[in-house]
Amino acid sequence: MTDTFDVSRITLGAVQLGLPYGAVPTSPMPNEVETQDLLSAAWEAGINAVDTARTYGLSEERIGRWLGKTTLPLAIATKFPELPADAVSGAQALRQYYAESQAALGGAPFRYYLAHHAPDIMRPEIQDTLRALQSAGQIDCFGASVYTLSEAEDALSVPDLGALQIPISLADQRFVDAGIIAAAAAQGVVVFARSVFLQGVLLREPAALPALFEPALPCLSKFGQCCADLGISKLSAALFAVDTVPGIASMVIGVNRPSQLEEIKTAFLAAHEMDKTAIETLRETMTTFPADLRDPRDW
Ligand SMILES: NC(=O)c1ccc[n+]([C@@H]2O[C@H](COP(=O)([O-])OP(=O)(O)OC[C@H]3O[C@@H](n4cnc5c(N)ncnc54)[C@H](OP(=O)(O)O)[C@@H]3O)[C@@H](O)[C@H]2O)c1
Repeated sequence: MTDTFDVSRITLGAVQLGLPYGAVPTSPMPNEVETQDLLSAAWEAGINAVDTARTYGLSEERIGRWLGKTTLPLAIATKFPELPADAVSGAQALRQYYAESQAALGGAPFRYYLAHHAPDIMRPEIQDTLRALQSAGQIDCFGASVYTLSEAEDALSVPDLGALQIPISLADQRFVDAGIIAAAAAQGVVVFARSVFLQGVLLREPAALPALFEPALPCLSKFGQCCADLGISKLSAALFAVDTVPGIASMVIGVNRPSQLEEIKTAFLAAHEMDKTAIETLRETMTTFPADLRDPRDW
C-alpha cells in the first residue's frame, strides 16, 4: 500500500523517553517535564512523527500526555511485542496490546503499527487482525521492525506491508548493499532508518568507549580523522551518510535532552551543504567496523 503521509526526514525515537536506555549511555532518562519539553521542541523543529513501542516503559504514556494537551497532528509509530505462538492467543494478544497502546497514547489512531518481533508479521492470523484494524480506521499502515536481512526480505513478501524499520548507519550498510531499501521503496513501503548513531557510539571519543569496543577503535579513530579532514562534525557525517541513501523516508533518532536536538538540527543543515562525493570517503573509513559489534543486542 502507499502511505500518503509526508513524514519528516527525522522521526523522534522515543525509547529514550520511557526507560533508561543504551548499552553505553552518557545521558540519564529525561523526567516527565523534560520529556514534554522535548516533544514540543521536536515538533517546533519540524519533526512530525514519533517512534515508540508498548515495551518502552513510560514512553507511550508520556507521549499520550503530550498529545492530550495539543491538537498538533504528531504521527505515531508504535510496536506490538512478540506474540504468543498459537494462532488464537496470538491474535487475541495483538488486540490486547493494541488496546493498551491506544489507551496510553490517548486514543488517536496509529499511522504505523509495527511488529517488534518481525517474524510475527509473517503469520496469516496476525496479518488478518492488522488488516481488520486498518479497515476500521484504527491504524493506517502495518509493518515490522527488523534486525536481519532475512526478516526484511520476508516482511517485503507481505503484499500490503506499509512500513519497515531497519538499522542503518555508517557502521552498518547491510540493508543498502543487499538492495533491501531500494526494493522496499519500489514497493511503496515507508522505510524508517534507526540506529543512525549506533546508540551514540559513532559520536563518542573512541577512547571513552567500554573495552568491548576495542576492536572498533582503529576504525572509529579513522572516522574521526576523516570528519576532521572534511571539516565536518561526526554528527553531520552520521546523518549525511543515512539521509543520502535513496528510499529512506525518515531517520528515527533518539535524543535525551533538547540540546541534543538542537545539535542535530544544526548538524543536519550542515550535512545538506556537504559535497555528495564525501559519502564514499566516509563509508570507506567504516568498512572495517567489526561485524559482531554492529548489532546492539550483542553488546
Ligand atoms: N527494534 C526496534 O524497533 C528498535 C531498536 C532500537 C531503537 N529503536 C528506535 O530507534 C530510536 C533510536 O534509538 P537507537 O538505538 O537507534 O539510537 P541512535 O538514534 O543511534 O542514538 C541515540 C543516542 O545517541 C546519543 N545522541 C543523540 N543526540 C546526540 C548528540 N547531539 N550528540 C551526541 N550524542 C547524541 C544519545 O545517547 P547519550 O546521550 O546517552 O549519549 C541517544 O540516546 C529509539 O528511540 C527507538 O524509537 C527501535
